[in-house]
Amino acid sequence: MKEIVKQVSDDFKISSGEAELIVASLLEKPRFGIYFDNRMDINTKKILNMKLIQLKNGVPIEYITKKVQFRNFLLRIYPGVFIPRLETEYFIELIEKFVNSRPEKILEIGTGSGAICITLATIFPKAKIIATDISQNAINCVLENIERYNLTEQINLLHCNMFEGLTTKFDLIVTNPPYIPRARLKSLPKSVKHFEPILAINGGTEGVQFIKKLIQQGKDYLNPGGLIAIEVDETEVKILQKFVEMNISAPFYFKKDLFGRFRYLFVGNFKNE
Ligand SMILES: C[S@@+](CC[C@H](N)C(=O)[O-])C[C@H]1O[C@@H](n2cnc3c(N)ncnc32)[C@H](O)[C@@H]1O
Repeated sequence: MKEIVKQVSDDFKISSGEAELIVASLLEKPRFGIYFDNRMDINTKKILNMKLIQLKNGVPIEYITKKVQFRNFLLRIYPGVFIPRLETEYFIELIEKFVNSRPEKILEIGTGSGAICITLATIFPKAKIIATDISQNAINCVLENIERYNLTEQINLLHCNMFEGLTTKFDLIVTNPPYIPRARLKSLPKSVKHFEPILAINGGTEGVQFIKKLIQQGKDYLNPGGLIAIEVDETEVKILQKFVEMNISAPFYFKKDLFGRFRYLFVGNFKNE
């Protein structure tokens, strides 16, 4: 096993500690476990080699292990479903801070693996949540995750395009939408542009196609006193500021992420700092 760890460490130019973590994760063992039984059977060796080749080809490790850690949840993730990000963990922190009262009805549009709706369900255990996605792969994935955390009573899933088929109003509408401007897709890291679903990242020419629609249609689905919370790209702040000013009478607020970039837009009723 020492040789494999050394090989991984050399191939990926990482420390042996990091290589141990990768090998342990691929073998689905605790870190010490990779040295515990030094003899690997041929089949396990073959599978490990295949996984290492995938990793070398740029496949995100989450798609190889089919697992992703999001806050304190260990979620299932599959190729074809967007891998939840660190920025979204913080997004939820801000939603909790800014939402005026405890929302009773929550809508998440574009739920992916279900990371946002699952976290919100535990923060607001009395809320009823609807989570939608246009991708059937995403709906299958989130279903597995909500079953895993016993949230099928609290979260309803809808396979639809944006607000299609919805007839009720909500206190909180949340989305981490596709928001990368089309021209920038080419320059994304290989692991993203070749392996993550384009539907989850392509925001059209300026990156704000989905967001504009969501704000415009979303205001009709919002209860009085409600809040729309959207993850955005920092380059889109000016366009969106103009758009919201021209189309919405409600207050709005851009908020920075942990690295000082304006990455979140809140429209509606929020607690101010
Ligand atoms: C950036 S991903 C976010 C996934 C998840 N909420 C997260 O934060 O990890 C955007 C999601 O929106 C979905 N989506 C894209 N267009 C959509 C549409 N028109 N209606 C509903 N969902 C859509 C994609 O399939 C994808 O799962």
